[in-house]
Amino acid sequence: LKVFSGNAHPKLARDVCAYLGIELGQSEAFKFANDNTFVRIGENIRERDVFIIQPTVAPTNDNLMELLIMMDACRRASAGRITAVVSYYGYGRTDKKDQPRVPITARLVADLISTAGADRVLTLDLHAGQIQGFFNIPVDELTAEPILSNYFAEKGLEDLVLVAVDFGISKRARDMAERLGIPVAVIEKRRTGNDDRSETLNVIGDVRGKRALTFDDEILTGGTIVNAANALLDAGVTEVYCCATHPVFSSVAPGLLADSPYSEVVVTDTVPLSEKQNFSNLTVLSVAP
Ligand code: R5P
Repeated sequence: LKVFSGNAHPKLARDVCAYLGIELGQSEAFKFANDNTFVRIGENIRERDVFIIQPTVAPTNDNLMELLIMMDACRRASAGRITAVVSYYGYGRTDKKDQPRVPITARLVADLISTAGADRVLTLDLHAGQIQGFFNIPVDELTAEPILSNYFAEKGLEDLVLVAVDFGISKRARDMAERLGIPVAVIEKRRTGNDDRSETLNVIGDVRGKRALTFDDEILTGGTIVNAANALLDAGVTEVYCCATHPVFSSVAPGLLADSPYSEVVVTDTVPLSEKQNFSNLTVLSVAP
């Protein structure tokens, strides 16, 4: 077994290796002055079982290209099997042709990953489970739900209701609620244009007088999750907590979340977070194990 990391999230790769008790594989990935990415695998990987850990988070195109080139290098170095460990699958939200003349980039990226040499893909909490079907190779989609639900189970918050922040996440929210043994509610959300803004319309379910735990796959601008908190407080909730797998925070998200009514925002480390993206009520749980 050999684990390599691109430049997207070396800390996660190091943590996975520490958990496995192995050394991180030697490799380098850098850009020439002409902006071309170059990769060198620094050790013999002939017939080895190779895992490349690289979430395709921002800078998405650079990280994706680096992953593709690393796999090409591994394939040409006669690796026995290559698994692309894409802990966050960028472009996952562009998964359907819901307007005329638009792409399905999630499918295009799946084709690129297979063509570049992946034998398998290991990922976490895809935006939509159906993205697995965009690949012609096996996909293991893991979920952070046990990590997030165990954390809240240990906190032992009373009168908790799990809230799906839109219909898209409602099935997973039901799974999560079952793990916690708590009821579930759903928020009706609408995207208002071509940008990242969303609008909360209704809270569906019995939430009055309860604590709410909002649940989503990813947080980008924070708009969805903060609108949800405000709608829940208007609907009579006493306290709000939030959890999501992927903290894909845009530049405005940390400020918005820090100033939000959330007592705590709990996410995982599928993508790296910088010091600037940290805030006082943020908890990051590791998916490395
Ligand atoms: C979209 O449907 C996803 O499930 C998330 O709700 C979305 O990515 C969150 O984005 P934002 O934080 O920008 O509202």
